[in-house]
Amino acid sequence: MRILSGIQASGSLHLGNYLGALKKFADMQALDATRFYMIADLHAITVWQAPEKLLSQTREIAACYLAAGVDPEKSTIFPQSAVPQHTELAWLFNCVARLGWLDRMTQFKDKAGKDKERASIGLYTYPVLQAADILLYRATHVPVGEDQRQHLELTRDVVKKFNHDFKTDYFPVPETLYQGPGARIMSLRDGTAKMSKSDPSDNSRINLTDDADTIAGKIKKAKSDMDALPSEEAGLVERPEAKNLVGIYAALSGITNQAVLDEFGGKGFGAFKPALADVVVGKMAPISEKLRTLLNDPAQIDAVLARGAETAREAAAPVVKDVRKIFGLWG
Ligand code: TYM
Repeated sequence: MRILSGIQASGSLHLGNYLGALKKFADMQALDATRFYMIADLHAITVWQAPEKLLSQTREIAACYLAAGVDPEKSTIFPQSAVPQHTELAWLFNCVARLGWLDRMTQFKDKAGKDKERASIGLYTYPVLQAADILLYRATHVPVGEDQRQHLELTRDVVKKFNHDFKTDYFPVPETLYQGPGARIMSLRDGTAKMSKSDPSDNSRINLTDDADTIAGKIKKAKSDMDALPSEEAGLVERPEAKNLVGIYAALSGITNQAVLDEFGGKGFGAFKPALADVVVGKMAPISEKLRTLLNDPAQIDAVLARGAETAREAAAPVVKDVRKIFGLWG
């Protein structure tokens, strides 16, 4: 088993990133596998990033990895741009991926907005770079949140076409691990919108940097409804906010939504919210405390990243060499 995943170096992380990605990265350390977890700074620059901030954003994501329990002794943590083979393989895959595949990517449509003529070409070919990230380490498993599913489908298409065109089985078709109760955490202000870094309302998300009081306050203010919680999951279908809050409780406690309803079914939010706040504070406040300590020690973070970059480069170099040969390129 070879695992690769990544998080963009753009802004601070939130509970959705934790449950959809970071927690899985840490949990997967119990498996017998090789693990590569990168900070996607090359993906971040597909939209404008202030150069004087980008390095500190990269360090901040690395600190989030460490604070969430990703252990550099068990996992390789590295900045994507420290391994030049990512961009080289991305070019080669630009010549495998088809325009029609990229045209279907919904994230490009969302991020480019109405004026897509003004979007960067990098934003358009973003999923091809993501395919390169994964295949550079010949990863077999990719833990991500639900919103990355379409990008992972494109990666699988790249592998299939590459292996078919060059009559090889060099790359494995990677499996997407997006399942689980934390795969799609919604905004605390609107149960139909994804929890996101770009939401202008800070109350819409729990940031990894939030302290215990801030977290408890945000749960208290979270949008809910007037009804008691149902005793069966089917009763959550038309209640997006209730479903999200139950889902957060379940994901952080490692139990099913139904188990949460077995305990809280028939009770209102007046009883459920304080219990939820206890769970979220209990799990997230120690992470935010650790994060604050780590951010005061950038030298320690840089040492982890330098060591990870070296390991990643060693793994990446022979793969690109093989792929160059498969293409029939010079040298
Ligand atoms: P990014 O930086 O947008 O998000 C990082 C991870 O967090 C997950 N996530 C969520 N999960 C549940 N609920 C949410 N509300 C939520 N919001 C975000 C994302 O699904 C993701 O797993 N393109 C990727 C980064 C990347 C990558 C890769 C991932 C670059 N190369 C190779 C996997 C493999 C991205 O922008 O994630």
